[in-house]
Amino acid sequence: MTETARTQSARYATGSLLSIRDLSVEDVSAILGLTARLQTMHPAERSAILAGRRVALLFYESSTRTRTSFELAAKSLGATTTLVSDKSSSIEKGESLKDTGLTLRALGAECIILRHPASGAPFVLARETGLPVLNAGDGMHEHPSQALLDLRTILTRLHGESSATSVSAASLQGVTVVITGDILHSRVARSNALLLPRLGARVILCGPEKLLPKEALGLGPGVEIERDFDRALKRAQVAMMLRIQKERLAGLELDLADYIDRYQLNAERQAACAPKALVMHPGPMIRGLEIAGDVADGPNSAIEEQVAHGLAVRSALLVRALGKSVTV
Ligand code: NCD
Repeated sequence: MTETARTQSARYATGSLLSIRDLSVEDVSAILGLTARLQTMHPAERSAILAGRRVALLFYESSTRTRTSFELAAKSLGATTTLVSDKSSSIEKGESLKDTGLTLRALGAECIILRHPASGAPFVLARETGLPVLNAGDGMHEHPSQALLDLRTILTRLHGESSATSVSAASLQGVTVVITGDILHSRVARSNALLLPRLGARVILCGPEKLLPKEALGLGPGVEIERDFDRALKRAQVAMMLRIQKERLAGLELDLADYIDRYQLNAERQAACAPKALVMHPGPMIRGLEIAGDVADGPNSAIEEQVAHGLAVRSALLVRALGKSVTV
């Protein structure tokens, strides 16, 4: 167990996933193994695993993929789910995160999946409720389940289905992942840049200064910055494109035409620089801005597969959170 993981388990319920840093390589491997095992199960067997357990989804920001996949994953395991969103609950009346969490616990919730605009909110909720909390995205901080589903997508597409059942510190040796776009505001970029190098990958962050400050290098070893997209792409086995998070720009102005010119992944650029690279995007994508529609729909795109892997990986995270043992 790593030092971080030890600290976490001492302070937060076992099975919580608050930051990707909490997971050792062995933990990641165990999650992938469990994911694969759940995938091979008969639906009837799978739906008995969390039968009668209660899972709450607490969403303070909009979501399509993450929320739906957590919800469908919980249901396919037999759990009962309830969704609380800021738009239709007492959150709108000013209730605090702590009080909402305690209310959900009093109603029998055994695990809370939280998306929140404030970085660190899942830590507060886990501390105050003592329940396992799964971070479904906290502000500009982290999105650990996204990094895990991205990892499973990369392993499956680059090394084949069977490679996605376990990992070691060398699993992504020789793989360069170029993450391009609004790195500054992206919790997806942060969680991936923290995870992938620990498995041997090289991560190149690419974008203009305004969206990618040089401090991003502080994310750790195995991470570098390259501002020239064509140059970065020429080294890529994986091109992960990110949306400009306009809801977090806070007055920052961007010349969109210039951005598209320099950073859009379009068919011409793809053919010239990275005809074989796997194309990924966490969604929601803005076609015609960071990515051209034909590239998103093209043969190298794994964008829809990412969504399917999300469902699979999140099933394993729920089983882990609710402390069920499944023979792998
Ligand atoms: C991302 C998010 O919410 O951080 N989406 C997702 O969960 N798949 C990325 C984004 O909003 O751009």
